[in-house]
Amino acid sequence: MTAAALSLRGLGKDYGARTAVGAIDLDVVRGECLGLLGPNGAGKTTTISMASGVVTPTRGTVAIGGVELARDPRGAKQKLGLVPQELAIYEELSALQNLAYFGALYGLAGKTLADRIAWALGVVGLRDRAGEQVKRYSGGMKRRINLAAGLLHEPELLILDEPTVGVDPQSRNHIFETVRDLNARGMTVIYTTHYMEEVEALCDRVAIVDAGAIVATGTVAELIAAHAGKGVELELAGEPAAIDRAAAAAAAHGTVARDGGTLRVVPAGGLAPVIAAVEEAGAAIARIQSRQASLESAFLALTGKTLRDAP
Ligand SMILES: Nc1ncnc2c1ncn2[C@@H]1O[C@H](COP(=O)(O)OP(=O)(O)OP(=O)(O)O)[C@@H](O)[C@H]1O
Ligand SMILES: [Mg+2]
Repeated sequence: MTAAALSLRGLGKDYGARTAVGAIDLDVVRGECLGLLGPNGAGKTTTISMASGVVTPTRGTVAIGGVELARDPRGAKQKLGLVPQELAIYEELSALQNLAYFGALYGLAGKTLADRIAWALGVVGLRDRAGEQVKRYSGGMKRRINLAAGLLHEPELLILDEPTVGVDPQSRNHIFETVRDLNARGMTVIYTTHYMEEVEALCDRVAIVDAGAIVATGTVAELIAAHAGKGVELELAGEPAAIDRAAAAAAAHGTVARDGGTLRVVPAGGLAPVIAAVEEAGAAIARIQSRQASLESAFLALTGKTLRDAP
């Protein structure tokens, strides 16, 4: 069996008395795109930072492609490209100069370095602006250079921490398509984001992080099936008292959330007993609509929180 692209065992970090990450176990399969979803402060960046050797863990181990980070930091880090949440580029330098600097950090030089820079610039679509100072770039272009810097050494594993936050739609789309393409060509990807639709479109598997722990992993479909509960929406007509009675009666046959004359029901068994109970209570059903279970509702059920609103 080949080693996992990334293997975390009991990985945790304390900052003084605060535990940022408890003890995370995670295996990332080679070639997959794993989405990392969690509310603000869940511990995503801390986990990624420990996995890439930027932050020293309080406990646990990290292995990248079978190479233990603590034993062989250089060998392990060669396999990994990190695109951090905070921009890690120098504003006064041009994109070319930035990439030359980061390439040298990875031990690249000469023609290899020049070729890799040209390739990475092409991947992020910034070849024609490469000579300009980065401070003249738009926010989206800066994020694309940030991505290019993480790609220079053609890592086996690419970790992106919210690469599309605060980015114009064109750059956002470009970054998203770039990552999808790299993954399709075999690069393993860990993708942290607050955008559910990006996870749904991109990721083979999702790990949901909350309060420093992984609370669930699975495909989007598995998470929805296990945690989101498929529901129906019933729009009721009738006397307010009848609607009150209907809501109470329906609650005997499932989970009910009421919004005025509308009931959102996740039936415990079938839908038939719910409808019968509502009608027996004297309310009429004006409309029935099935409600699509979503990753968002699974996330809510698991964490009790919503994701940060898109800026
Ligand atoms: N250098 C630090 N010193 C002290 N506490 C820290 C430090 N870095 C992170 N923390 C704390 O650790 C917890 C996890 O933070 P982290 O940045 O990993 O969350 P996150 O899931 O990436 O959140 P976001 O979605 O906002 O980026 C938070 O409570 C945070 O305040
Ligand atoms: Mg973060």
